[in-house]
Amino acid sequence: MVFICCNRSVVTSPTPDTDSSATKAEASSTESTKQHMEDVKDGVAVHEDSSVMSEAMNSPEHNYAEFCASCHGAKMDAFVDRKWQYGQGESDLFKAIKFGYEDDGMPAYGEALSDSEINELVIYIKEGILNVDQYNFDEKKIVDGQFTSEEFTIKLDTIASGLERPWGITFLKNGNILIGDRNGKLYERTSEGELIQIKGLPTIKEFGQGGLMDLELHPNYAENGLIYFSYTKPHVDDETMLTSAVMRARLNNHTLVDKEELFEALPYSTKRFHFGCRLEFDREGYLFISVGDRGNRDDNPQALDNHCGKIHRINDDGSIPEDNPFVGRAGAMGSIYTYGNRNAQGLAMNPVDGSIWEHEHGPRGGDEINIVQKGINYGWPVISYGINYNGTIFTEETEKEGMEQPVMYWLPSIGACGMTFVKSDKYPNWENNLLSGSLRFKYLERAVVRGNKIVHTEKILENIGRLRVVEVGPDGYIYVGVEEPGLVFRLLPM
Ligand code: HEC
Repeated sequence: MVFICCNRSVVTSPTPDTDSSATKAEASSTESTKQHMEDVKDGVAVHEDSSVMSEAMNSPEHNYAEFCASCHGAKMDAFVDRKWQYGQGESDLFKAIKFGYEDDGMPAYGEALSDSEINELVIYIKEGILNVDQYNFDEKKIVDGQFTSEEFTIKLDTIASGLERPWGITFLKNGNILIGDRNGKLYERTSEGELIQIKGLPTIKEFGQGGLMDLELHPNYAENGLIYFSYTKPHVDDETMLTSAVMRARLNNHTLVDKEELFEALPYSTKRFHFGCRLEFDREGYLFISVGDRGNRDDNPQALDNHCGKIHRINDDGSIPEDNPFVGRAGAMGSIYTYGNRNAQGLAMNPVDGSIWEHEHGPRGGDEINIVQKGINYGWPVISYGINYNGTIFTEETEKEGMEQPVMYWLPSIGACGMTFVKSDKYPNWENNLLSGSLRFKYLERAVVRGNKIVHTEKILENIGRLRVVEVGPDGYIYVGVEEPGLVFRLLPM
């Protein structure tokens, strides 16, 4: 299975997991695992120590937790997502565990564990590695711009090209589409397919993870014409200092007018990553904003005196709602709605109950989906399913009192980016499904949501490109934006 569903400690209306397709998926994955275990056993038969009876053995889960997790991560993350030094064949693993690589800091376990236990551990780790292989879509070629899904065939309709990295997409009432490119260019795409560049944007710093980011219309856009956008803002006195900011403006003759800055994340930093920057209005008209930890994971996400590593909630004019959870607490930023978030690149309102969902990047392993709930601490970096990029761990803890468990997490990290619910009846059986893009594995993940749970997932649009943004238009079609080359597609169900 791709995902691991966690026990949620805060569940308002749990719905039983009745989705039969989920059970089917589980059954078939158990089968392939069994088959795989047999294959692996064959591969290491030479090491088999038949004198050890199975009753005397500890389970590989137990041995892993006991002997390996402290260095390699609680969930085998290091193995699922690593650059192998000594080979990933069964006998390579066996050798590493039995004899160790003392010079590298890898102890030898030949005395602590029997050969059979080591073999079981090898199988256990190899199963984990399958998690990565399932994302290897290299074989899959895109034929005629068409993709298959469990329900129907999807045809791509290219609606914009010549972009770099489309990051925000929103739909004007006249049928035109606003497309923001990370490089600071904002376009209005006409129904004839022409891209008209919008003038009058503020100063935007653009590079890797920063630039012009999300776009959102005011819920009453038809009356007030207000467009909201987030971007990377350089400090007025020192342009090496950067932050995430949100502005609103109106469009007049392809120029932004009436510009008002509503939000600026503090403190500024010279770090050039983890800006967050997703925007979403809820049904009551509050604007939610994600801000990443700005690369200062030890100070920012768990402290309430800064804006970073948080989800914020503000009124449409930038003022702070009085019932925000930390309003009135000394030293706390009033806009904070949740904290302990790493770098959320997806925010979407669930059309079924109006709740706001987010996904955020973990480090290696541990991209999470969470439901944004008032005042909740999502635990970063105290608890995490991920490990450091260099393969070392920074926390052994995946759970802690007072810290929320994710609805789901991805192992390995898919580089989740862009999120929406399918508020549409154009796609049979997809209504209210949750869609998340993947930068790293270049596909779209569809999740069937029941209440507060994800009961089934499917990978679609494999190899489409680094998928940065996904939205549903007022016409009911799903739109996705991919990077380099920057293209926007409309998904036509066939
Ligand atoms: C004290 C820390 C520590 C513990 C405990 C530990 N390892 Fe390691 N292990 C390392 C280090 C350090 C390396 C060297 C490679 C690296 O930098 O990750 C390594 C390497 C390995 C490799 C080779 C990886 C490669 O890239 O080829 C395997 C396989 C492995 N360990 C398995 C295990 C298993 C299974 C356990 C538990 C029985 C375990 N290790 C326990 C620290 C540890």
